[in-house]
Parts: sequence; structure tokens; C-alpha cells
Amino acid sequence: TPKFPIFTQEEVAKHRTLADGVWVTYKGGVYDITDFVAVHPGGSKIMLAAGGALEPFWAMYAVHGQEHVLEILSEYKAPRA
Ligand code: HEM
Repeated sequence: TPKFPIFTQEEVAKHRTLADGVWVTYKGGVYDITDFVAVHPGGSKIMLAAGGALEPFWAMYAVHGQEHVLEILSEYKAPRA
């Protein structure tokens, strides 16, 4: 039994606003970061990645290449309770 459900890219792409929920992907995983958006140290720039992949943005903002950032992300693995 897989630990997490499978989501399609199409389903992720429907979640790009606070009202619909904000989902992103990272290395094949899906994260519901809706509750993190308001506390993101980099402010609303995070919404540029809403509904899609984090990788291109984290490649530009190397501050994310730290263990503590991945720990935060891991707390938001979808689906959230
Ligand atoms: C800073 C997390 C997405 C832009 C940070 C920091 C964390 C974080 C923890 C502070 C790091 C530190 O100083 O040690 C996250 C998470 C994301 C995310 C968990 C996705 C779920 C994004 C995206 C962008 C972005 C998509 C840009 C499009 C920035 C910028 C900073 C920052 C510019 C530096 C803010 C500053 O120090 O002035 N992020 N981030 N972040 N983030 Fe993100």
C-alpha cells in the first residue's frame, strides 16, 4: 500500500490560489503549502510556484538548498489532515 496517494499534474495545477489551496511539486512529491504561504520568509514570491514545480524557483533562490528548508517542506506533504 503506498504511503501517499498519486496526484496528476492536472490536479496539482488546479491548486494555485489560497481559496483553492496552494499545491506545489518537488522531486515527484506533492505538497499542500496553503498554510505556509503567509509565513514564508520570502513573502508572496512563493505564489509564483503555485500549482507547479518548485525546482526552477529554488534553482534561482539558492537559500532553499538547506536541510532546514527541506524539513519545513516535508511537513506539508499532501494530503494534509
Ligand atoms: C526564503 C521556504 C518557495 C523565494 C525562504 C526561507 C525559507 C523558505 C525557510 C528562509 C531560508 C533561510 O533564510 O534560511 C520556502 C518553502 C517554499 C518556498 C518551504 C515552498 C514550499 C519559494 C519560491 C520562491 C521563494 C517559489 C520564489 C519564487 C524566497 C526568497 C527568500 C526565501 C527570495 C529569501 C528571503 C529573504 O531572506 O529576504 N524560503 N520557500 N521561496 N524564499 Fe522561499
